[in-house]
Formats: sequence, C-alpha cells, structure tokens
Amino acid sequence: MSVVNVITIDGPAGSGKSTISRLLAARMDYAYLNTGAMYRAIALAAKRGGISLDNRMALMHLCENIHLRFVADQDPPGLLMGNEDISEEIRNPEMDMLSSTVSTVKEVREAMCNLQRKMSRHVNKGLVAEGRDMGTVVFPDAGFKFLLTASLEERTSRRHLELLTRGKTIEKTAVMDSLKKRDNQDENRALAPLRPAPDAFILDSTGMGIEEVVQWLMNHTASS
Ligand code: DC
Repeated sequence: MSVVNVITIDGPAGSGKSTISRLLAARMDYAYLNTGAMYRAIALAAKRGGISLDNRMALMHLCENIHLRFVADQDPPGLLMGNEDISEEIRNPEMDMLSSTVSTVKEVREAMCNLQRKMSRHVNKGLVAEGRDMGTVVFPDAGFKFLLTASLEERTSRRHLELLTRGKTIEKTAVMDSLKKRDNQDENRALAPLRPAPDAFILDSTGMGIEEVVQWLMNHTASS
C-alpha cells in the first residue's frame, strides 16, 4: 500500500473533480494522479490497435506493455504514452464512453490498480488521487476520502462549456445523454463501481464556485 499521505477524490463525470483535485494538490504541495486519464489512454491504445473491447487477453497484454507517464509541470498535467503526448486526444468525446467501457474489464482494472499504487510509491510527498474507485479500492487506507458530485444539469453545463472551449461543437442535449449513459455504466458495473467509501466526506457542489469547493476540502482535511 501507499507510503505517502493520500487524499482520494472520487466522483461522476463532470463533477469538477479534475480541476478541484489539481488545485487542491497544488495548494498542499502534493502530487496529483488523474486515473481517468489512464483508462482513457487504454481506450485510445485499444482503438488504435483495433482491439475489440471483448478481447480481454489482448487488453491485458496491452495494459502490461503500455508506458504511461504524467507530465506534472504542465497545466493541466499532460500524459505521455511512450513519447507521444496524448493529453488532447484522450479528451475527445469519443473517448468518454470508450474509456468507461474499457474500465469494466477485470484485467484492465487489475492492471490499472497495480500501476496506480506503483505510481503512488514514487511520489515523495502527499498525493491527491482522483477517479471512481480511489477511496473504495485503490487507496482504501487513504487519510482523507471525498466524493464530489453535482446535479446532472450542472455537470452537463460544465462539460458542454469545456468542450466548446476546446473547439468541439456539440449539442448540450447530446452531452447530457452521454453523461447519463456513462453515469449508469460507471455506477452499475460489477467491479469497483462508483460509490462513496463508507468513510468518505460527500460534497454536492451544485451552485458552488471552484474556490469554495477547494476551501471546503481544505477545511475538512485540516479539521479532521
Ligand atoms: O474521470 P474520467 O471521466 O476521465 O474517466 C473516464 C472513465 O474511466 C470513466 O467513465 C470511468 C473510468 N474510470 C474508472 O473506472 N476508474 C477510475 N478510477 C477512473 C476512471
């Protein structure tokens, strides 16, 4: 298990957990681990390699051979697959559902869980780890666990705005449909579904600003 102080932030798509986790990590001078980006990288590699998401053995092989490295001194942090910067490509809407689907595969989850714990052992300060199963499966001994959520409407607006800012033209209703589908798959899969750890603080951030949420998290880590 991890040897550093770990804070886990789990939550559904569009809950703002990436922005919040990154800011919290910077404020606390902790490292930051975005595990959703890792599942997205597997989805991208599977797509490029023409690997069907039913082909568990091929996916396992892919996970065993993939070289992923986060670039921390970039804002937002980048992700390299081998020497290629895949940070932009994994954020394309197509990767949303593909990464959710690839993350239901047992072999993929086991490999990512091992890799995430291994990565945590390489940080020599604290770690903010965000995803869906950080507090429940990957870092059950984390010092502080949070589940961050927001209403579907607000998550849709945030995700829609993010896509527009990145130059992607997409209808808001399509964003909402995609979020609903992904929520359903991430919350109801057999393995490591998204749910709060029994000892997690839960925050519904609907109507709250980014700074307010970061402050709320910092207060909880300071006073507990
Ligand atoms: O956080 P994100 O939206 O970038 O994650 C993409 C998908 O990866 C998400 O729909 C489910 C999966 N995921 C997961 O199963 N476990 C994690 N710890 C992180 C992400």
